[in-house]
Amino acid sequence: MRIKHDRCADCHTDAHAGQLARRADGGRCETCHDVNGFRPARFGPEDHAKTAYPLLGAHLAVACDQCHRPGVGGAGRGGPAVPFRFASTRCADCHKDPHRGEAARFVANSGCEACHRVDSWRQVSFDHAQTGYPLSGGHARVACASCHRRGDSANGPPVQRFVGLTRACETCHRDPHQGQFARAAGSTSCERCHTTADLKASKFDHARDAAYKLDKAHARLACSTCHQPKARNGVTFIRYKPLPTTCRGCHGSSRQPVEGEHP
Ligand code: HEC
Ligand code: HEC
Ligand code: HEC
Ligand code: HEC
Ligand code: HEC
Ligand code: HEC
Ligand code: HEC
Ligand code: HEC
Ligand code: HEC
Ligand code: HEC
Repeated sequence: MRIKHDRCADCHTDAHAGQLARRADGGRCETCHDVNGFRPARFGPEDHAKTAYPLLGAHLAVACDQCHRPGVGGAGRGGPAVPFRFASTRCADCHKDPHRGEAARFVANSGCEACHRVDSWRQVSFDHAQTGYPLSGGHARVACASCHRRGDSANGPPVQRFVGLTRACETCHRDPHQGQFARAAGSTSCERCHTTADLKASKFDHARDAAYKLDKAHARLACSTCHQPKARNGVTFIRYKPLPTTCRGCHGSSRQPVEGEHP
C-alpha cells in the first residue's frame, strides 16, 4: 500500500483548526513549517506585513506568543492553542486602560486611538479643543504630561490625571511677582496682564491699568527707571508697587517741579 505523502497535511492534522484556510496558499503547512520542528514557525515580520495586521512601531519588538495566545484580543480560551483570528484589533482589545476611566469619554468615541499610536505610549496626539480648553500660544508646544502630572491613586502606580485640573494660570505657574498683584485671599489673576503667547511680555498698559498715569517726560522712560529689583527673603523680584506717587516721593525736595512744568 502506498501512503500519500506529498504534503505534510497528508499525515498531520491541522493544528490551526482551519484558521489559515482562507490564505492564498490555503494554509499549506509547508509555507511555515519544515520537518525540523513546528516551533518556531518560518513566519517573520516581512510575512506579517502581508497580513491584515502589519506589525508596526513597538509591536515589531513583541514576541509572537504575546499576541497569539488564548485570552488576548478577544480570542477565547478553549479555542485553538495558537489563535490567529481576532474579533477586532482595537488597542483596547489587547491593552488594559491604565487611566482609571479618566479618558473614558474619548475612549468611548474613538478608542485609545484618539490619542495613541503603536510607536510608543508616550507619543500622544490629541485635539485638545475637544476638552473645551484649546491649547493656545506656548501651551501648544507643552507635553501632555507636564500639565497632566502623575497623581497618587488609591490602588496601583501613579498615573497621569486628566480630571480635576483648573484653568487658572497661577495653579501651574509660579508667581515671580511675590504676591504684589494678589487680590482676594492672596490669589493673583495672571490673566489680567498675561496671555499664553509669552510670559516674558505683558499686555499691561500703564495708562489703562494703573492708577498712576505716565505722561509727558515719564512716558519716554524705561520701566526699570521706576520699577527696580528688590530682594526679600533671598528672592529678587521687580518692585511694581508700592511706589511713591507724589513728585517729592521720587524726586525729593531739590527737584520739586514748578507748577506748569509738570510732565
Ligand atoms: C507520510 C506521513 C508524513 C508526512 C508526509 C509528514 N510527516 Fe511529519 N511526521 C509523521 C509522523 C508519523 C511523525 C511522528 C508522529 C508525530 O509526532 O506526529 C511525524 C513527526 C513530525 C515532526 C516531529 C513531531 C513534533 O511534533 O515535533 C515534525 C516537526 C513534522 N513531522 C513535520 C512535518 C512537516 C513540516 C511535514 C511536511 C513538510 C511533514 N511532517 C510531513 C508523518 C509525516
Ligand atoms: C501561515 C503560517 C502557518 C501555516 C500555513 C501553518 N502554521 Fe502551524 N504554526 C504557525 C505558527 C506561527 C505557529 C506558532 C509557532 C511558534 O509559536 O513558534 C504554529 C504552530 C504549529 C504547531 C505547534 C502548535 C502547538 O500547540 O505547539 C503545529 C503542530 C503546527 N503549527 C502544525 C501545522 C500544520 C499541520 C499546518 C498545516 C495544516 C500548519 N501548522 C500550517 C504558522 C503556520
Ligand atoms: C502585536 C500583536 C501581534 C504580534 C506581536 C504578532 N502578531 Fe501575528 N497577527 C496579529 C493580528 C492582529 C493578526 C491578524 C488577525 C486577523 O486577521 O484577524 C495576526 C495574524 C497572524 C497570522 C495569520 C496570517 C494570515 O495570513 O492570516 C500569522 C501566521 C501570524 N500572525 C504569525 C505571527 C508570528 C509568527 C509572529 C511573531 C513573529 C506574530 N504573528 C506576531 C497580531 C500579532
Ligand atoms: C492583537 C493584540 C494587540 C493590539 C490590537 C494592539 N496591541 Fe499593542 N501590544 C500587544 C502586546 C501583547 C504587547 C506586548 C505586551 C505589552 O507591552 O502590553 C504590545 C505592546 C505595545 C506597545 C509597547 C509597550 C512597551 O512598553 O514597550 C505599545 C506602545 C503598543 N502596544 C501600543 C498599541 C496601540 C497604540 C494599539 C492600538 C493602535 C495597540 N497597541 C494594539 C498587543 C496588541
Ligand atoms: C485623551 C487621550 C488619551 C486616551 C484616550 C488614552 N490615553 Fe493613554 N496616555 C495618554 C497620555 C497623555 C499619556 C502619558 C504620556 C506620557 O507619559 O507622556 C498616556 C499614557 C499611557 C500609557 C503609559 C502609562 C505609563 O504609566 O507610562 C499606557 C499604557 C496607555 N496610555 C494606554 C492607554 C490605553 C490602553 C487606552 C485606551 C483604553 C488609552 N491609553 C487612552 C492619553 C490618552
Ligand atoms: C498647558 C497645560 C495642558 C497641556 C499641555 C495639556 N492639557 Fe489636557 N487639560 C488641561 C486643563 C487645564 C484641562 C481642564 C480643562 C477644563 O476642564 O476646563 C485639561 C483637560 C484635559 C482632558 C479632559 C478631561 C475631561 O474629561 O474633560 C483630557 C482628556 C486632556 N486634557 C488630555 C490631554 C492630552 C492628551 C494632552 C497632550 C496632547 C494634554 N491634555 C495637554 C491642561 C493641559
Ligand atoms: C494646568 C497647568 C497650566 C495652566 C492652568 C496654565 N499653564 Fe501655562 N504652562 C504650563 C506648563 C507645564 C508649561 C510648560 C513649562 C513652563 O514653561 O513652565 C506652560 C507654559 C506656558 C507658556 C510658555 C512658556 C513661557 O514661559 O513663555 C506661557 C506663555 C504660559 N504657559 C502662559 C500661561 C497663562 C497666561 C496661563 C493662564 C491663562 C497659563 N499658562 C495656564 C502649565 C499651565
Ligand atoms: C498687574 C499686571 C501683572 C500681573 C497680574 C502679573 N504679571 Fe507677570 N509681569 C508683569 C509685567 C509688567 C512683567 C514684565 C514684562 C513686561 O514688562 O511686559 C511681568 C513679567 C512676568 C514674567 C517674566 C519675568 C520673570 O520675572 O520671570 C513671568 C514669568 C510672569 N510675569 C508671570 C506671572 C504670573 C505667573 C502671574 C500670576 C501669578 C503674573 N505674572 C501676574 C505684569 C503682571
Ligand atoms: C515714572 C515712573 C514709572 C515708570 C517709568 C513706569 N511706572 Fe509702572 N508704576 C509707577 C507708579 C508710581 C505706580 C503705582 C504704584 C502704586 O500703586 O503703589 C506704577 C504701577 C505699575 C504696576 C502695578 C499696577 C497695578 O495696578 O497693580 C505695573 C504692573 C507697572 N507699573 C508696570 C510698568 C511697566 C510695564 C512700565 C514700563 C512700560 C512702567 N510701569 C513704567 C511708576 C512708573
Ligand atoms: C515713582 C517715581 C516718580 C514719581 C512719582 C515722579 N517721577 Fe518724575 N521721574 C522719575 C524718574 C525715575 C525719572 C527719570 C530719572 C530722572 O531724570 O530723575 C523722572 C523724570 C522726570 C522728569 C524729566 C527729567 C529730565 O531730566 O528729563 C520730569 C520733568 C519729572 N520726572 C517730573 C515729575 C513730576 C512733576 C512729578 C509729580 C507730578 C513726578 N515727576 C513724579 C520718577 C518719578
